[in-house]
Amino acid sequence: MGAPREQFGSRLGFILAAAGSAVGIGNMVGFPVAATKNGGGAFLLIYAAFVIFICLPVMLAEMSVGRASRKDPLGAYATLTDNHAGWKVAGWLSIITPFMIAVFYLVITVWIFGYLFQSVLGNLAQLADPANFGTFINSNDLFMYMVAVLAIVYLILQGGVKQGIEKAAKVMMPALFVMLIALVIFVLTLDNAWAGVEYYIIPDFSKMDAKVVSGALSQTFFSLSLGMGIMITYGSYLDNQSDVPGAAKMVALLDTAVAFIAGLLILPAVFSFNPNIDTSTLSDSSVGMIFTFLPQIFLALQSSVGFVGTSVVASLFFLLVFFAAITSLVSIFEVPVAALMEEKQYSRRKSLGLLGLLLVVFSVISATSFGMLDYFTNFTSYAGQTKSFFDLVIDVFYDTILPLNGFLICIFVIYKWKKAKLNAELDKGAPHYQNSWFERYVDFSVGTFIPLILLLIFINTVALKYFGTALIG
Ligand code: PHE
Repeated sequence: MGAPREQFGSRLGFILAAAGSAVGIGNMVGFPVAATKNGGGAFLLIYAAFVIFICLPVMLAEMSVGRASRKDPLGAYATLTDNHAGWKVAGWLSIITPFMIAVFYLVITVWIFGYLFQSVLGNLAQLADPANFGTFINSNDLFMYMVAVLAIVYLILQGGVKQGIEKAAKVMMPALFVMLIALVIFVLTLDNAWAGVEYYIIPDFSKMDAKVVSGALSQTFFSLSLGMGIMITYGSYLDNQSDVPGAAKMVALLDTAVAFIAGLLILPAVFSFNPNIDTSTLSDSSVGMIFTFLPQIFLALQSSVGFVGTSVVASLFFLLVFFAAITSLVSIFEVPVAALMEEKQYSRRKSLGLLGLLLVVFSVISATSFGMLDYFTNFTSYAGQTKSFFDLVIDVFYDTILPLNGFLICIFVIYKWKKAKLNAELDKGAPHYQNSWFERYVDFSVGTFIPLILLLIFINTVALKYFGTALIG
C-alpha cells in the first residue's frame, strides 16, 4: 500500500472545491445565452427541475461510489465489482472522458487567459475588433499563454488535495462570488439594463420544444460536472463523517445560483449595449459571446466610465471567468492524475508530469485545428460535415460519452452495487437522509427513468451526430 489516501480538510473545503468544479465557463456564459434564446424564465424553470430531479441523484450516486471505494473511478468500478471486466470499461471511460474534456477545456481557458492579459494591458479596443478572435487563436502567443495556464494548474495539483485543490478553491471561489456580485451591481446601473433582466426572467413557453428540453438537460449535466468521474474522485477524498447528500445539495445550489446570477450580468449588459437587440442573432456558442460580443460591449462603456474604468470592468470579467475555468480544469485533470497515482503507485509529481505531457500534446493539436494546421483543421468528416480535431473531441466526449457515463453509473449503483449499499453509504454522516422522501426518490429515479433518459440522449446524439438522422431535433 502507498501513502494513506489524501482527504479534504473541511466540509466547506469540499463544497467549495466541488462547486469550483461545477462552476465553469458553462455557467458564466453558456447558461445565460441558452436561457435567453430558449424562453427565459421558462428555461430557468426546467433547468431548476433538472438540477433537482435528475442531476442531484446522479451526483449522489457518483459521490457515494467514490467515498465507498476510496478510489479513482477506474479503481472504484474494479473494487466494488471484484474486478469485473465489463465494469472496468465503465471505469476506463470515466478517466479517458475527463482527460479528453480537459484537452478542449484547456484550449478555451487559454483563450480566456489571453483576453484577460490583454484587458489588463488596456488593449480592449483591439479585442473588440471582430477580426481579432480569429487572428488571436491562430497566433503563436497562444502557446505562451498555454504555458502560463498549465503552470497554474500544475502548481495547484502538485499541492495535493488539501494544500492544492482545496486551498485554491477557498481563495478563488469567494473571490469569484465577490467579483460576480460587483459586476452585476455595476451593469444594473446602466441604461436599459432592466429590459435585459425582464427578457431573461419573463417566461416564454412558446420556445419550448423537445430540442430545447434535451439541450437544457445536457447543459445541466455538464454544468454539474457529472459523467466525468470528478464527483467520484472528489467523493473519494471524504471521510465517513461527511454528509454527502447535504454537501451535494449545496454544490448544486451554488452552481445554479452562479449560473442564474451570471445571467443578471450578461443580459443587462447586452440590452444596455443595444436595447433593440434581436436576441435570436446572439451567437449560439459561449465562445462567440465571450470573445467577440462582450469585448464590444465593454468598449462601448468607455463614454460613461472612461478608458481605465472600462479596462477594469473587462479585466474583472475575464478574471472571473478565468477563476471559474481554472477550478474546473483542476478538478477534471485530477481524475486521470488520481487514477495513475492509484493504479501504478506513482507519486503525484510523476503522474502529473506524465499526464501533463500528454495533455500538452493533445492540446497543442487542438489549438492548431482552427486554421494553423490544415491536417487538424480538416481532420475528418461524418454526417456530411467536415470536422476539426477540436470538433471531434467535443462531439465524441462532451456530446456523446458524457450521457453514456451518466447512464452507466446509474445502472451500476442500483443493479450491480445494489440499492442497499448505496443507501447505507449515503446514510453515513447523514442520518437525516435515512428513510427520507428524497432517499426513496433517489432509489426509484436512479433505477428507472434517469438512466432511461440518459440512454435516449446518448442514442439520439449518436444518430444525429454520426448518421445525420435524429429522434429529437
Ligand atoms: N461545470 C463546468 C462548466 O460549467 C464543466 C466542466 C467541469 C468542464 C469540469 C470541465 C471540467 O463549465
